[in-house]
Amino acid sequence: MSQSTNITWHESGISKEQRRQQNNHHSFVLWFTGLSGSGKSTIANAVAKQLYNREIRNYVLDGDNIRFGLNKNLGFSVEDRTENIRRIGEVSKLFVDSGQVVLTAFISPFQEDRDQVRHILEESEFIEVYVDCPIEECEKRDPKGLYKKARSGEIKEFTGIDSPYERPQNPELVIKTGENSIEECANEVIVYLRSKNFI
Ligand code: PPS
Repeated sequence: MSQSTNITWHESGISKEQRRQQNNHHSFVLWFTGLSGSGKSTIANAVAKQLYNREIRNYVLDGDNIRFGLNKNLGFSVEDRTENIRRIGEVSKLFVDSGQVVLTAFISPFQEDRDQVRHILEESEFIEVYVDCPIEECEKRDPKGLYKKARSGEIKEFTGIDSPYERPQNPELVIKTGENSIEECANEVIVYLRSKNFI
């Protein structure tokens, strides 16, 4: 891939702070990470609905959906997953600049890639949420039949089977979807956001 040259950064006439003031809330990223089938998208969407009901502008970026468009040229090698997360991080930063809350639901298996996203944002703008669910439970759920395909060798480099998942070392929040209901998990996120005055 070639690099852009002769480019200049243009400052927007409206600042992030002004946009936040107009929206009447902080803007930040809720970064859900976890195994396939752990419940990332389900919880992200449940939280998004609660935020919407509180008139907090938000949008969910979801792994499968983004790979239909923006990241359709990426597969599941280590390099492609890193590039996937890098792009999502940049998109998330744009959402934060626009004064909105962005909820991302990507496996994002590598700590270094998640940390890269954390570092392009300000400290109060990145909340790492580990959607913790034992692989046995994810495999039992197998909502898309992908674990079955991975076990039979039909899918290669499947996270948790023949591709690694690095558990977050220091996440802001851990949600146990194997033990608690969707509603309970979503409420935990909302309670956390309120306790930190994010909302
Ligand atoms: S990553 O690792 O963050 O780049 O992955 P992500 O963009 O979140 O995409 C994960 C979804 O892609 C489907 N899928 C796979 N996942 C993991 N490994 C392999 N090899 C694979 N092939 C396809 C799967 O539906 C994942 O969605 P979720 O919602 O996590 O189950």
